[in-house]
Amino acid sequence: TNALTTNLTSFFREAHHFEVLAELLKARGRQTPIKIWCAAASTGEEPYSLAITAAEALDSLTPSVKILATDIDTQVLETAQAGVYPEERVDKLDDAQKRRYFRRGAGANAGRVRVIDELREMISFRPLNLLDARYPMRGPFDAIFCRNVMIYFDKPTQRDILGKIAPLLSPDGLFFAGHSESFFHATDIVTSIGRTVYRRTAR
Ligand SMILES: C[S@@+](CC[C@H](N)C(=O)[O-])C[C@H]1O[C@@H](n2cnc3c(N)ncnc32)[C@H](O)[C@@H]1O
Repeated sequence: TNALTTNLTSFFREAHHFEVLAELLKARGRQTPIKIWCAAASTGEEPYSLAITAAEALDSLTPSVKILATDIDTQVLETAQAGVYPEERVDKLDDAQKRRYFRRGAGANAGRVRVIDELREMISFRPLNLLDARYPMRGPFDAIFCRNVMIYFDKPTQRDILGKIAPLLSPDGLFFAGHSESFFHATDIVTSIGRTVYRRTAR
């Protein structure tokens, strides 16, 4: 299952989702603890982009936000947990973000950057196979990112996964899919509210 070819990811991939999330976070405000689940976290760029979005939206390096980052692949989760990346991986971030959220490596770590501890502490990394019959985590989540993994499953399997994810979403929470994924075969479970952003379908 530790298949490298399917781990493609990047910081702020499909950037408009992070703008939508920032709006949700600002609307929730600083007081309420916010829970986000990143369900195919790969090597960590996605959950760290979520943490940066939270830090910026709530104007704090230690916002009241908890991010659960899961993946089936334990090797990518180790990379994610370490939070160390070749400098080119953060090329597209602006200079202020690079300075604020990363430390440059020296000596043996030259050419690499490490995510700051505050961002890493916002995130728990755990193995999870989306095909498992039951998910052990407790909701509700204010946002669930499950991007660019459903494409590997057929429609009945996607429905099955959505059926396990949706109950973990708060009634006004948001579900984010990859830009090439759509769930018009599952409108009884999730309802599209814009470009690859969904809510739980009200019952
Ligand atoms: C193409 S990456 C997408 C990463 C990230 N979500 C993004 O959009 O940039 C797909 C990820 O899904 C994970 N994955 C594949 N099958 C899975 C499964 N059954 N359960 C959980 N994760 C899975 C892979 O290990 C990989 O890290």
